[in-house]
Formats: sequence, C-alpha cells, structure tokens
Amino acid sequence: MSTDRQLPPTVGTTEEYGASPFEQWAEWARVDDVVRITGEEGDRYLVTHPELVEEVVFGDGPFAKTEGIQQQFGRGLVAEHGEQWRAQRGAMQPAFIPDRIESYAETIGEIVADTVDTIDDGAVLDLRELFAEFTMEVMVETLFGGSGDDEAIRTAVDRLNEWFLQQNTGGETPESVVSERDRAMKRLVGMIDEMIADRRGGDGDDFLSMLLSVGPDSDANYTDGRIREEVIAMLFAAHETTALTLTYTLYLLSGAPEVADRLHEETQSVLDGRPPGPEHLDELSYTERVIDEALRLYPPLHALARRPTAEVELDGYTIPEDGVMYLSQYVIHRDERWWDEPTAFRPERFAAVDDRPRFAFFPFGAGPRRCLGEDFARTEAKLAVAGLTQQFSFEQLTETFQLRIGGTALPDRPLELRAHGRE
Ligand code: HEM
Repeated sequence: MSTDRQLPPTVGTTEEYGASPFEQWAEWARVDDVVRITGEEGDRYLVTHPELVEEVVFGDGPFAKTEGIQQQFGRGLVAEHGEQWRAQRGAMQPAFIPDRIESYAETIGEIVADTVDTIDDGAVLDLRELFAEFTMEVMVETLFGGSGDDEAIRTAVDRLNEWFLQQNTGGETPESVVSERDRAMKRLVGMIDEMIADRRGGDGDDFLSMLLSVGPDSDANYTDGRIREEVIAMLFAAHETTALTLTYTLYLLSGAPEVADRLHEETQSVLDGRPPGPEHLDELSYTERVIDEALRLYPPLHALARRPTAEVELDGYTIPEDGVMYLSQYVIHRDERWWDEPTAFRPERFAAVDDRPRFAFFPFGAGPRRCLGEDFARTEAKLAVAGLTQQFSFEQLTETFQLRIGGTALPDRPLELRAHGRE
C-alpha cells in the first residue's frame, strides 16, 4: 500500500443530513470535488465533478453497485455485473429499439388522451398521484401486454422507497418499515409468478414473453427466478423515475407561466388540435428542453451509487474498498461552474451549443450502464407534457417543498396545481 494514502476531507456525518439533505450535500461539495461523510453504516464519498464521474463510469476501476441495490434487485440488470450484465443487457435491448418505441408511442398517445379526458376545468391535481397512475398504465400496457395488478406494483414501489429513505438517512431502520416492504414485495412476486405462468409456452410478444423466450439456456441464463427479479427491477427503474420527471416538470411549469405559454404555442403549432402521437415527437423540441430543464433541477435518480471492490484512487485521494460513492447529479446539475443561475428554471439554456463538460448533465446516468429506458422515458414524458399543455394552463397551489432522499429524490409533500382549460 502506498505511504501517501490520503482520504478525502471529512465534511460531516450521515446523521447531519437533517431536514434538507440535498442542500447539505451541495454545501459539503464546496469543500472539494470528493468529500467524505462518516456514518454508523460506513463512510460515504460524495463525488461532484463531471470529469470524475466520467473516470468512474468509463474507468476499468473495480466499481460495483451498492449492497442495497443488489439486495433489492438481485439478478436484475440494474444490479448485475460483468459478463452476466452484458448478456442480460443484450437480451433486453430488443424491447427498446426505435421500432418498438414507436409502437409504444401509439399506445402512450392513447393513454395521454384518456388521461386528459378525465381532467375537468378547475380540477385540483395531486401530481404524484396523477403521474403514478399514468406511468403505471403506460408500463402495464406497453411492456406487460395489459395485465398486472397496478395496486400491488404501486404499494411495493412506495414501501421500497420508504426503506431506501431510511437506509440513506442513516440510523436504524424501524422493523415496521422492513416488514411492510417484505409484505408488499411478496404480493408483487405472487403477481409476477402468475404472469409468468400465463405466458409460458404462449406466443405473446410483450417484455415478459420476450424474457421467457430467451430462457435459461442462453448466456443471460433467464431462469424463472432471474426473470422475476428482472421484472421487479424493471418496474422500479421505469415507474417512479418517469412519474417524478412528470411531477417536477408540471410543478415547474405551474410556477412559470411564460414558459408554459411558449410550450403551449409549440403544442398548438405541432399538434394542430390532434392528440399527440409518434409522428409529433421530432418536432416537440421546446417540450424536450422543458423536460431536460426539469431533469436538471430535479433528477429523479439523484446520484449514481457505486462501491469499489478494492481500494481506488480518485482525484488524488484514496477511496477504501467498499466505501460507498455517490456521483451526485443533484449537486453537479446545480453547480455554478457549469450553470448560470443554477436554480432558475430556464429551458432555453438547452437550446444553445455549450462548452460544459460532458457529464455536467447526466439524469439518465453515464457510460455503459446508462439508462436502457431513456428513449422510452423521453417519449412518454414528451407525449404527456404535450397532451396536457395543449389543453390546460396550470396554477401553482404548492409553492415550496423540500426534497427527501429515498431511492429517488422525493417531494416531502403533495405537489398540487389547478388545471384551467384553454379555450
Ligand atoms: C425519466 C425517467 C428515468 C430516469 C431519470 C432514469 C435514470 C436512470 C439512471 C440514472 C440509470 C443508471 C443507474 C446507475 O448507473 O446506477 C438508469 C438505469 C436503468 N434504467 Fe432508467 N431512468 C428512467 C426511466 C427508465 C425507464 C422508463 C426504463 C424502462 C422502461 C428504465 C430502465 C432502466 C434500466 C433497465 C437500467 C439499468 C441499466 C444497466 O444497468 O445496464 N429507466 N436509469
């Protein structure tokens, strides 16, 4: 071992996260681009420079996913490593090719139209509720051929988030949080097993049928157990992230009428009174910027978590084996070094060519493990935002909120707005 081994500066403890952990992170990040946070459950290392993110995600360093992720998602793609990960990624890829996304976009457009129809002029909308339901329906219809128990999935997502919240804020996790998570997961597993049994030997072409047809006699080794874990991991990767993206986008729009008006102009000219569908996607460029700006300010997956399986060097510091690293989108996306007036909601900033480092913006992750569902999520978000702003303007009812660190970055209260029908 080298003699000049130097740990990153210690800035605080996990117990000090307090009521607004993200602000605390941003403050600690001012000390250096890698800092150390001590905690009973082990030290964590906050990494907040885009080039260091690049070094970790593309490097040959021995970086694994954290135990929390592996514990929850078992042999799912999001938790796997090495050759096994590569084989699974290859096996899942066909569900996300452009032709597939285009056919999903048809279905998503219909779900957007149905959702818009349920909203009355003057209705008060709880954004998380609205979009949890919407994204669930999209997922069930596009990836699972229209079957699945929405309630079982949503409860499991909520309980698991609660558990992640406890894990991330340090201290002991209450027994009730663990048992509720386990109960909800059991119900979810029961549902998936039924779906597997339904499809076995059939000629369906949904995501689950696709994994069954790859099967155990392949490099991906899709046994029923692995398929079950893959489906669970996928539900979590796809659902809450997209629902939160839409929640924060609409929340920001409701506080920025001039952005909402400009967006409305785009939807009027592109959609020309029709419901949004695949044929409109390329032209909805301002819509895309609005979504990017929401993802910058409120990245649903707020940090990539990595665990070195051996001691590594980063920025001249030593990170010990098993020291959990957080590559923080939240902090980097709001860093004045890369963003003017970082807290301002200004979608226009994505219009200009810029000289920011490559990973000053990485809401979908970075490197080989970048989000597999990015095109899917972008398609879904664009169609939903376009469909809603085509018909409504939004009045903000919840003015402020705090972010909580769960598995995702969650608002600490319902975010509400009033929808006003546009003439
Ligand atoms: C706006 C919504 C979404 C956001 C912000 C998001 C973000 C991310 C991020 C940051 C990662 C990398 C995690 C890491 O490196 O530790 C990731 C991975 C992944 N995402 Fe997404 N995601 C979204 C939607 C989706 C959707 C809709 C799907 C599927 C339909 C999906 C499937 C996946 C999968 C399978 C992985 C694992 C990739 C791998 O490890 O090779 N995501 N996502």
